[in-house]
Amino acid sequence: MAQELIEKESQSVWERLGGTDGGAPEAFAALVDAFYDGVAEDALLRPMYPAESDLKEERENLALFLIQYFGGPALYAVKRGHPRLRMRHNPFKIGPAARDIWLKHMEAALVATPAITPVAPTLRAYFIEVAHFLQNSDTD
Ligand code: HEM
Repeated sequence: MAQELIEKESQSVWERLGGTDGGAPEAFAALVDAFYDGVAEDALLRPMYPAESDLKEERENLALFLIQYFGGPALYAVKRGHPRLRMRHNPFKIGPAARDIWLKHMEAALVATPAITPVAPTLRAYFIEVAHFLQNSDTD
């Protein structure tokens, strides 16, 4: 039992979701889709994206990034290069409200995506940390 817990913990999120052929790509895609469905309706976040965008590219960028970060294939690097997330977020004013609304949409997506449930606590902790790191303004 203890051994099993230790082994589970040492597996990457990607492996815990079943890997490439076991549903992991679909789980991340579903999470990101649910998240961006919320962003698409959001009065503060939606204006940060080009008005003409259908958010398809943005969905793909975030999904590829998360897959790479959590132990899957490094396809984000192939498409976009080094993540440099702080720098890539510089063009957007991210104050406390934007940060918390981003996290609210991601929390809703985590809850609404059954395929991601086994790793939701790990992802939740990660998102909270990165969202605070990406905040680049004290004011909204
Ligand atoms: C804190 C509030 C945040 C806001 C307001 C925000 C907003 C944005 C916007 C407007 C874009 C541009 C769309 C695009 O090119 O894909 C973007 C890109 C991106 N964001 Fe965020 N973001 C936030 C937090 C986060 C967090 C917590 C993560 C990761 C855990 C993240 C990961 C990314 C990634 C991977 C991209 C694509 C970068 C690229 O390749 O150009 N963002 N974000």
